[in-house]
Amino acid sequence: MDAGQNTIKPQADYRQSMQAAELSGERAKCVTGIDGLDGILGGGIPISNMVLVTGGSGTGKTTLAVEFLLRGASKGEKGLLISTFESPDKLISNIPHFDFFDEKYLKDGTLQILELGPLLDKAGIKQRILDEESAIRLAEMIEKTLVENGVKRFVLDSLSSLLYGIEDQMVAKVLLQRLSAAIYAGRCTGLLISDKAGPSDIEGFVSDGIISMDNHERRGDLLRTIQVTKMKGTSHSRSKYVIDLTSCGVLVTPLLKGGGVS
Ligand SMILES: Nc1ncnc2c1ncn2[C@@H]1O[C@H](COP(=O)(O)OP(=O)(O)OP(=O)(O)O)[C@@H](O)[C@H]1O
Ligand SMILES: [Mg+2]
Repeated sequence: MDAGQNTIKPQADYRQSMQAAELSGERAKCVTGIDGLDGILGGGIPISNMVLVTGGSGTGKTTLAVEFLLRGASKGEKGLLISTFESPDKLISNIPHFDFFDEKYLKDGTLQILELGPLLDKAGIKQRILDEESAIRLAEMIEKTLVENGVKRFVLDSLSSLLYGIEDQMVAKVLLQRLSAAIYAGRCTGLLISDKAGPSDIEGFVSDGIISMDNHERRGDLLRTIQVTKMKGTSHSRSKYVIDLTSCGVLVTPLLKGGGVS
């Protein structure tokens, strides 16, 4: 399938967005490069936003996040993915064979994929269920990595796994607030993946944006859908769209073309 079939186009690239934003006083946007998503978002995700990508298993969250990183890498924007439970090698082997995937991004460091375990070890954090102190230390380490490496696109896959076992909601809140501050300090754009169908209260109010992905059964077919329910700093469509995961990337089909989602 040709990505050009996608009828929703990005409005501007990153630099144009920054310049236009400076002139108009609007928030500058990170043009995700996923055309349909940029169309839904009126051009992209406002830079510095921490966006929760929620959805059940197999809804395409990791695929969307990896395309977000690869599209950035193709423009020279540095990306970092922290994987909480899969080794970088396994994750890379699972990266769908996107036509635009180029191993050079991994070799030259434009795209870094790190595993959480060694990061925790490096930060001297022994426990795997974070308490407030270790949550702050981890967030500080992530902030340092983002700022020192000039990372512009950050993905945590997944937040749910990082929060798993934390019973004290204050710890979850502190962790999310510190991650948000880290993303802001790096002037980058972050996607935190949540494996649940919807955000928890804390995830919902601390995040600057929420992208909900879902499965929708229709006449025996299981369609994948995407819906932006919140995005600070921009007006956006709140409609539900059908998505296709293809070698050209995530294609977003307007409601009527997709046959409608009730
Ligand atoms: N380019 C592609 N073309 C066709 N199918 C794809 C492509 N990329 C991914 N898929 C399929 O999409 C499915 C889900 O993808 P993905 O791993 O992104 O979902 P997820 O929401 O991250 O799931 P989980 O919650 O289990 O991590 C997989 O079963 C995979 O086979
Ligand atoms: Mg996944």
